[in-house]
Amino acid sequence: MERLQKVIAASGYTSRRKAEDLIRAGRVSVNGEVVNELGVKVKKGDTITIDGKALEGENKVYYLFYKPKSCICTLNDEFNRETVVDYFKEVDERIYPVGRLDYDTTGVLLMTNDGEFANLMMHPSSHLEKIYEVTVSGLVTGETLHKLEKGIYLEGAKTMPCKIKVTGKDTEHKTTMLMIKLVEGKNRQVKKMFESMGHRVKRLHRIQVGFINLKGLTPGGYRMLKPQEVKDLRNLALTKKENNKRK
Ligand code: URA
Repeated sequence: MERLQKVIAASGYTSRRKAEDLIRAGRVSVNGEVVNELGVKVKKGDTITIDGKALEGENKVYYLFYKPKSCICTLNDEFNRETVVDYFKEVDERIYPVGRLDYDTTGVLLMTNDGEFANLMMHPSSHLEKIYEVTVSGLVTGETLHKLEKGIYLEGAKTMPCKIKVTGKDTEHKTTMLMIKLVEGKNRQVKKMFESMGHRVKRLHRIQVGFINLKGLTPGGYRMLKPQEVKDLRNLALTKKENNKRK
């Protein structure tokens, strides 16, 4: 739910201030009813008209966000915790995250208001590569790595083959640092994979999605994706999807 004046401004029709004037003047209707007071909220799918003409859709926008720790990807939280959208107060468009990272996971998160793009990126057959740095409790054996790489059963479904590299071992504190490259993104997948082998994930950081990495950003920072990057991400996902159909 968003304030009516914000949604009008986000469509590019006019500024937020002028949208408020239009509302006060009784020129705006929501689902056929005139709204002439401020504070009314609207949801996706509501029909907004100004002087009897339907408001055109929002501009499509695409951002790369460096998700910090301690914020959630769902937009309405029962515990009132900070959400990723709280970092985008300056952005008028109603953006949301493409997929999810856990509360304590950091790193690459794409944000957009383009539902079609989001669906394409998240679709299982798009096989978009995601690379994570992971620190787990315990010293991970070669045998465990081999099993995880081949695929294991999680809640009745087998994970797809993935690539894992050990990047460091701390024998004193019994922790292992690894890099894992996945082409799927089931809910809490990395944690579940390691936990099923008896290793608790202590740190999880996504360094790359497709070819998009965090270069130039600090935690909590974001940048717009370049039109070429959006195009290339789309093509990458579409090509993988096509190839998977043929297999
Ligand atoms: N896998 C997880 O377990 N958590 C995340 O946040 C992302 C991938």
